[in-house]
Amino acid sequence: MDLIQHWDKAYTARAEDALTWFEETPAQSLRFVRQHLPKGGALVDVGGGASRLIDHVLANGAGALTVLDLSAQALQIMRDRLGDAPVTLVQANVCDWAPDRAYDLWHDRAVFHFLTDPADQARYLATLARALRPGGVAIIATFDLTGPEMCSNLPVQRYSPETLAARVAKLAPGLLTPLDAERHTHRTPKGNMQDFQFSVFRESADMG
Ligand SMILES: C[S@@+](CC[C@H](N)C(=O)[O-])C[C@H]1O[C@@H](n2cnc3c(N)ncnc32)[C@H](O)[C@@H]1O
Repeated sequence: MDLIQHWDKAYTARAEDALTWFEETPAQSLRFVRQHLPKGGALVDVGGGASRLIDHVLANGAGALTVLDLSAQALQIMRDRLGDAPVTLVQANVCDWAPDRAYDLWHDRAVFHFLTDPADQARYLATLARALRPGGVAIIATFDLTGPEMCSNLPVQRYSPETLAARVAKLAPGLLTPLDAERHTHRTPKGNMQDFQFSVFRESADMG
């Protein structure tokens, strides 16, 4: 089974609100998005799946919103829920994506950690570099070092804020400067606890 089939199957096997990563209100993401998305700014949620993040951002008024995901099934759940709300849905692999505009804010919750091959991690960061405007902000949330070793039956690479910053600096030197980080324990719909780290970076072009 290829990766697209894997994720389509995940989104058809269970209701969206029964998936382990489901959050009714993605509070940590929202706090950082509200802090770093300028009024009318452009946000891309990479590997956004069927996440409710965009619903909350829309409710607060926002500029251009894009959700990218490998799974057409996930994006269909999103479209059915959002109706004709002005959100661009893109079915693509984040590692290969060629964005057609610049974004103020990049959000990823639980996607980078699936990239266990440094070559894929470098391709992800190359996409991020193409997508983010100079001085833009990236929020990257992964399982923490104490989090699970697998997610959706796939192995993951776990990080602390420090090891994630070191990985990014090694693969894309000078691209991102760490700004902020927070630990968060996610309670899955079945009541299991999963440790996450949320790291916030600024695209370094603005720093000089
Ligand atoms: C654990 S889920 C998290 C979904 C969402 N970010 C959230 O917090 O609810 C991971 C998501 O990443 C997507 N995904 C996995 N690998 C991807 C890739 N290489 N490119 C784009 N999307 C990917 C999956 O289809 C899935 O929707």
